[in-house]
Amino acid sequence: MNITDRVVQVRVPGTSANCGAGFDCIGVACSIYNELSLRLLTEDRLDIEIEGEGADSIPRDQRNIVWRAVKCLLRWSGNEKNVHGAEIYMKNAVPISSGLGSSAAAIVSGLTASNILLGNPYTKWNLLQTAVSIEGHPDNVAPAIYGGFTVSIVTDTGKTQSIGFMPHMNLKMVVVMPDRMLSTRKAREVLPDDVPRRDAIYNVSRAAFLVAALCKGQRNFIKYAVGDKLHQQYREKLLPEMRTVIEEAEKHGAMGAFLSGAGPCIMALTSRNTDEIGKAMADVFHRNGTDARYRVLDIDRNGACEIK
Ligand code: HSE
Repeated sequence: MNITDRVVQVRVPGTSANCGAGFDCIGVACSIYNELSLRLLTEDRLDIEIEGEGADSIPRDQRNIVWRAVKCLLRWSGNEKNVHGAEIYMKNAVPISSGLGSSAAAIVSGLTASNILLGNPYTKWNLLQTAVSIEGHPDNVAPAIYGGFTVSIVTDTGKTQSIGFMPHMNLKMVVVMPDRMLSTRKAREVLPDDVPRRDAIYNVSRAAFLVAALCKGQRNFIKYAVGDKLHQQYREKLLPEMRTVIEEAEKHGAMGAFLSGAGPCIMALTSRNTDEIGKAMADVFHRNGTDARYRVLDIDRNGACEIK
């Protein structure tokens, strides 16, 4: 079949990266989804329609990140000269610049949809390499592709390897979303290039501990495992409410809470009191005059998939 003959629809989960100590390596896929419908065109025409999150701000031209991802895969597959445009329809539930992996979801949706239109020549691992080359770090794109929790590394030869797993416990995620945006670029600029060895040890031990606790179902250890000294303390100046929100979540029964990705969303892990925790977290922002809402999410176990 010609690659411009049909429309494909895919669904990709939002993601929360870092999960406390796992800076740039641990992520989890959440039950909040962006949908993409894609038709490739031989003619030079780009029609982009956007519904939901980012409808007012996402570019509808060559800068559009879904289209950039599509073009990247077309280039890799040697099809760039056959396709000059596309009809793109994005239906977004993942808020933009919020710490829930909106750019990763957009990239992965473009790659997944174009791979299907090409006849699935690439594996998820291949798509992961391309997605990381666009996004710059693997901790959101890996769970967006595979689902569940993922632990990712970049090998000494520059390849990304990810291992996915589902936790051995019943886990809900309560995410509070303040009505603010924070670009990942800005949130990375405040991070120091070097950290004390004791802080590195603090994080290495907790990142490993978190994975072990999740895999063994040792819920009582999660509260120790989510501690972090590599990014949250530096980002606090961009989000002064962070520490109090985390404390409130834990006070109301969460196993642990952390900045979701680069923020400003904050995520709590729990198996109980979900609404009580969400309200308490949102109230911290309300008291400071910032609108905030919360959502209770499950872990998405499938990652990116075609909607038939
Ligand atoms: N690990 C990244 C960060 C996730 O914290 O900067 C943001 O996309």
